[in-house]
Amino acid sequence: MRILGIESSCDETAAAVVEDGSRILSSIISSQMSTHSKYGGVVPELASREHLRAIVPVVRLALEQSATRLQDLAAIAVTQGPGLVGSLLVGMTYAKSLALVQKIPLIAVNHIEGHIHAVVSQNAVEFPALALVVSGGHTHLFELRAGLSYRLLGKTRDDAAGEAFDKVAKLLGFGYPGGPVIDRLAPFGDPRAVRFTLAKMKGNPLDFSFSGIKTAVLRWVESRDMREEIDRRRALLAAHHAPSTEAWLAVTPRPTLDLLASFQYTVIQELLHRAVKSAEEIGARSLIVSGGVACNSGLRAAAHSAHLPCPVFFPAPALSTDNAAMIAAAAFPKFARREFSGFDLRAQANLTLA
Ligand code: KG4
Ligand code: ZN
Repeated sequence: MRILGIESSCDETAAAVVEDGSRILSSIISSQMSTHSKYGGVVPELASREHLRAIVPVVRLALEQSATRLQDLAAIAVTQGPGLVGSLLVGMTYAKSLALVQKIPLIAVNHIEGHIHAVVSQNAVEFPALALVVSGGHTHLFELRAGLSYRLLGKTRDDAAGEAFDKVAKLLGFGYPGGPVIDRLAPFGDPRAVRFTLAKMKGNPLDFSFSGIKTAVLRWVESRDMREEIDRRRALLAAHHAPSTEAWLAVTPRPTLDLLASFQYTVIQELLHRAVKSAEEIGARSLIVSGGVACNSGLRAAAHSAHLPCPVFFPAPALSTDNAAMIAAAAFPKFARREFSGFDLRAQANLTLA
């Protein structure tokens, strides 16, 4: 039983064919990173235009690589939201037209649910599970019960964790996206060199906040004259759109490496602290970490060496950042329950999961 998944919620145009909910036969991702990196973030108008350009060849390639004909498909799954509405519309319109022509069901998938299925579909996850979804748009803690129902336990009140990585990187001249660069450079700094004091959270103790640490980094930068250093990095980025670690190190002095290491360390501590607390609270039998920030090697290492109350599961790196295999996988249980959408399905920029 093959499902074609289509994902276009942000800056990746992706299509994948997944068999029986877990066997990934193909997963094509066309990244727009080089388009957006010089602007230090995703430009929505450019994103929609790039999706329009990429959607047809990306879907064709996903079908070809999995040796699947349109008539072999049982359903088309598509990201309904959350995301950029102009971007979501491109994937959704194409998914609708394919489903209409083939006369097969259309299945709407929540992007966050997709990130969770990147793990659930590939591992023997036991329930109840605690899912920490950390990406550029989300930092959410969900309780996951058998039968796949979700209960929101906590979320960020301001920036998402990935957004904090991206903003800190942009401020320091590392371009977009910030997570991968900071991840590569953090091991060269001392994670305890800069101490960030984090505001105590009022209200839900499982909520996150990353605006304080972002502001602390801004203050640190403003209290020094870093203009030349930052300009050197911007020039490097303009000359090579993906500089090597060595090239970054050549334009990044030790105090800045210490800052990056300390920033990453603090974010990881915040994430793990609340994830462990909520896992204990619900008596979780598995901990799932998913979303782009789940690629972070510091977070993976810290999670594997921490005293966790249950086993922890991360997606393979290719399934951590946005992809369509997770969308097709998440559609499988919906197919079994016949949760199909009509052709009046609308993209929802602020779609919530629970
Ligand atoms: O899941 P994703 O591809 O898109 C969203 O749904 O947002 O996540 C992208 C986010 C970006 O903020 C990016 O900086 C972050 O994930 N990211 C990382 C790493 N790789 C990607 N953050 C920290 N360390 C990484 N290695
Ligand atoms: Zn995502």
